Amino acid sequence: MSSTLFFAPVAESLRQLPPHTQLAVIVDDQTLAHCYPRVRPHLGPHRLVQISAGEEHKHLATCQQVWQRLTEARLDRKALVINLGGGVIGDLGGFCAATYKRGLRFVQMPTTLLAQVDASVGGKLGVDFMGFKNHIGVFQEPAQVHIDPAFLTTLPVRELRSGFAEVIKHCLIADRPAWEQLRQRPLAAQNWAELVPHSVHLKAAVVAQDPTEQGHRKILNFGHTVGHAVESWFLENRPGQRLLHGEAIAIGMVAEAWLSWQKGHIPAQDYLDIRHYLLAIYGHVALPAAHLSEMAELARQDKKNEGDLILASLLHQVGQCGYDLPITRPEIVQSLLAYHQLD
Ligand SMILES: NC(=O)c1ccc[n+]([C@@H]2O[C@H](COP(=O)([O-])OP(=O)(O)OC[C@H]3O[C@@H](n4cnc5c(N)ncnc54)[C@H](O)[C@@H]3O)[C@@H](O)[C@H]2O)c1
Ligand SMILES: [Zn+2]
Repeated sequence: MSSTLFFAPVAESLRQLPPHTQLAVIVDDQTLAHCYPRVRPHLGPHRLVQISAGEEHKHLATCQQVWQRLTEARLDRKALVINLGGGVIGDLGGFCAATYKRGLRFVQMPTTLLAQVDASVGGKLGVDFMGFKNHIGVFQEPAQVHIDPAFLTTLPVRELRSGFAEVIKHCLIADRPAWEQLRQRPLAAQNWAELVPHSVHLKAAVVAQDPTEQGHRKILNFGHTVGHAVESWFLENRPGQRLLHGEAIAIGMVAEAWLSWQKGHIPAQDYLDIRHYLLAIYGHVALPAAHLSEMAELARQDKKNEGDLILASLLHQVGQCGYDLPITRPEIVQSLLAYHQLD
């Protein structure tokens, strides 16, 4: 069952909540301070469940706290949960709701750009486990998704920029005219009220064709084979120099656009345009030349691969993407080297 999407101020969308006996709202300390005040006046009686902000709390111990709060509040099976926050709250709160008493209905109210255009669509829920991201989870669609760009006004600009990488990705894999428009403007001049719904619809259309990621949905991984590897490498080896997800994906998209060009799918000019825009927004991150091969090795260990082959999603052309395309570890090193040399 697909969920109902609302693109409206929360004051309006909250009038259309599905019927429920009780209501719980899950927040973290940041969304409690910045987002809950916008929501609270429009809610009936509810139980507030607060968790600590950050990916480092996206694990089962936090779920246990949430399940405890829901149990103490004696939530029955017709209760409704609202997840008010970024992707961490959406994934974790959704997972808790989907498993509590075999499943409560829940509403995603994403408050970061990343959560609005990516995490709140597609029904993937879960938590990290034993160092593996999103290792324990389920697929479950929310009853509704309420998207209000007004939340983005309090988001730190670095978080906004990180989420913007997914917006760029959606255009590159599915909508060339939108990419041509997007790249005319810097981050600060983007119109979120237009861009967010557009981006959500692009992702939703891809997910609708392949809800459980058997094939086509993999195009959403463009930039992520190399990007994830860079992200993991920095996490393990440069803990003080943390890269946000979108910052790593921006590097991954430069590298994978380079591979798309090298393999003859896109013309040099398209690669140069992509590179130019991404560098203008994200700057150039110094990758240590001596460790590029190690980074490429991390891409080989990605759980989406089969055996030794590295399967990537590369652009067929700008606005169209292929998936399950085999690339080799040396090719990844070359693409990282091409990025490295841009400095
Ligand atoms: N389910 C999916 O399909 C999917 C897709 C992409 C990412 N994800 C997951 O999403 C998570 C990342 O999401 P994220 O980037 O939103 O991180 P996040 O939820 O950690 O939010 C980032 C920070 O911004 C704060 N914040 C949130 N909204 C705010 C607002 N409006 N104003 C001020 N501060 C605010 C949060 O408290 C947090 O400190 C990862 O765990 C990732 O695995 C899931
Ligand atoms: Zn991503």
